[in-house]
Amino acid sequence: MTSIRRGEVPSAWRGREVEAWAGELGVPALELAGVIPSTNDRLRNLADGGAPPLTTVIAGAQTRGRGRSGRGWHSPPDSGLWMSILLAGEGGAANVLPLAVGVAAARALERFSPLPVSLKWPNDLLFGDQKVAGILCEAAGDGRDGIVVGIGVNLRRPLSGVPDELAPNIAFLEEVAGGAVREPSLARVLVGEIGHWARPAPRSLAGRLRAEWEARDCLTGRPVHLENGIRGIARGVSKDGSLELVASDGRALRVRSGSVRLDLEDGSLALHAFNRDRTIKGGE
Ligand code: BTN
Repeated sequence: MTSIRRGEVPSAWRGREVEAWAGELGVPALELAGVIPSTNDRLRNLADGGAPPLTTVIAGAQTRGRGRSGRGWHSPPDSGLWMSILLAGEGGAANVLPLAVGVAAARALERFSPLPVSLKWPNDLLFGDQKVAGILCEAAGDGRDGIVVGIGVNLRRPLSGVPDELAPNIAFLEEVAGGAVREPSLARVLVGEIGHWARPAPRSLAGRLRAEWEARDCLTGRPVHLENGIRGIARGVSKDGSLELVASDGRALRVRSGSVRLDLEDGSLALHAFNRDRTIKGGE
């Protein structure tokens, strides 16, 4: 497979051939797209066609960007890094790879930020209580071993503005960094960190990976509630990547997948992604 460009190259990626960017990122194949529905969906198609590990798709904007738990992901033009990369999941534990990618992404963002990144299980990246990036890991498709890892990083405020329902809960990396963060620089560091922490796919949350996770974990000891309404106190993450919590009725619970919300004093923290029935502004 060769590196290709689809439509107008996103502005941050002009001035070099796509092959040259692929070499800069250290990936075997790169697709740079102007506006597409979703980089995850596009990469899944490429994986179905036999694309090799580390094949990467990056878009300037997504019209149907997807978040976790069936939500959408606001991805307006030239305001973030909207990227998907193909990883091999073979041998790893399904619930640990997403945590490892979270650690990798947190470390990448911290290269540009004076502030540390917090990780909210399973893999939301926050500055304080505001979300700067999210990760969506999906199986590549029928019988294939690949995992499509989608990463969305809010870099700068979109020209179209931020939807009111998202505005209080979003952070932008450039505002925290206090200067420009160019998409290619961030993508290069991100691919390097992913290569270190997520290849091969980890079998358990242990050793240095666990230490990196725990150093950024923002849930342990805090009140949370689950999508099914259960409330409790987060107690950390087990080796298999499950969230452990003690429910308000005293039961010890393990949550293998899904999302949790932090119960803040002034209400629960909404999680950046918006519901599909809302209007998507920008990027369409
Ligand atoms: C979440 O926190 O809900 C996950 C958000 C993941 C968004 C990224 S942007 C690039 C890739 N393509 C998508 O459609 N989604 C992911």
